[in-house]
Amino acid sequence: MKQVDLVIGARLDTEVPLVREVAQYIISAGGKRLRPALLLLVSGALESPHPHRHTLAAVVEFIHTATLLHDDVVDESTLRRGRATANERFGNAPSVLVGDFLYSRAFQMMVDVNDMRVMQVLSDATNVIAEGEVQQLMNMHDTSLDEASYLRVIRSKTAKLFEASARLAPILAKAGSDIEDACATYGQALGTAFQVIDDVLDYEGSSDVLGKNLGDDLREGKVTLPIICALRNANAGQQALIRGAIEAGDTSHLDDIVNIIRDTGALEAARASAAAEAQRAIKAMHHLPVNEYSSALLQLAAGLLERRF
Ligand code: IPE
Ligand code: IPE
Ligand code: MG
Ligand code: MG
Repeated sequence: MKQVDLVIGARLDTEVPLVREVAQYIISAGGKRLRPALLLLVSGALESPHPHRHTLAAVVEFIHTATLLHDDVVDESTLRRGRATANERFGNAPSVLVGDFLYSRAFQMMVDVNDMRVMQVLSDATNVIAEGEVQQLMNMHDTSLDEASYLRVIRSKTAKLFEASARLAPILAKAGSDIEDACATYGQALGTAFQVIDDVLDYEGSSDVLGKNLGDDLREGKVTLPIICALRNANAGQQALIRGAIEAGDTSHLDDIVNIIRDTGALEAARASAAAEAQRAIKAMHHLPVNEYSSALLQLAAGLLERRF
């Protein structure tokens, strides 16, 4: 991971000071670096440490960071990684444009790797993430959204990059399609569970620990799994309160809505859905060699449910 950070630092080079300033601002705030870690762990699990793995780990982190810069503009978010978002600090225009810089730098780096399968996986992933974000935009304020439609969005906007990160290691290792499919399934299931927990934390987390504001999803009128589960079990009055808030993007009853989400068991239901995805990830791991890396991947899937940030 230290080597990945070195690649990240080296590949932020540019003659344009504002690009460096904005990119450094969000990247130096840290973040969990989960997607590069996933790529390196799968590489280790396959016992085939390819020399290009650090470059590709930096590529997935650049793509992730570009999506965050754009996402915070779209979501009008003000807090990320415990500090003001780039849009809050520098404005929307620099955030969008530096997001474009990071996307295109990621593509320059993957061309250096010079492997058509790698380019295919990463270009497909980037495209699907964009589709997921647009689909989600179209779903805003729609209280009839069901769990299947919600899952379609999060598999695109979040799980796809986890899937790509986990798939790149077997591609580099030329590991064969069974292993590649197992790694991709692991990544997809892990990413899905990750986003479900993220959506739970938007209602029950701690802003200090999470580094993001709570209640952002309700303010946006975004229908996430806690809301879908609460609507299923709420009484007519409670349903009306939630529907009104989602339709108007109104957070003035956030406390009441959090209580309804709690009382209807929606957080447990959403966590159970994340747990099922985590189990799917764990099951996929059985196709991989047993070593300290695959055991770390198992722990990652199991520990995800307890994450607070
Ligand atoms: C945030 O991802 C966006 C989601 C998919 C929920 P992370 O939680 O991995 O963000 P950082 O990189 O650790 O800040
Ligand atoms: C994360 O989506 C952004 C992408 C996966 C592209 P969200 O909007 O749900 O995540 P946060 O809460 O801003 O991190
Ligand atoms: Mg967001
Ligand atoms: Mg968003």
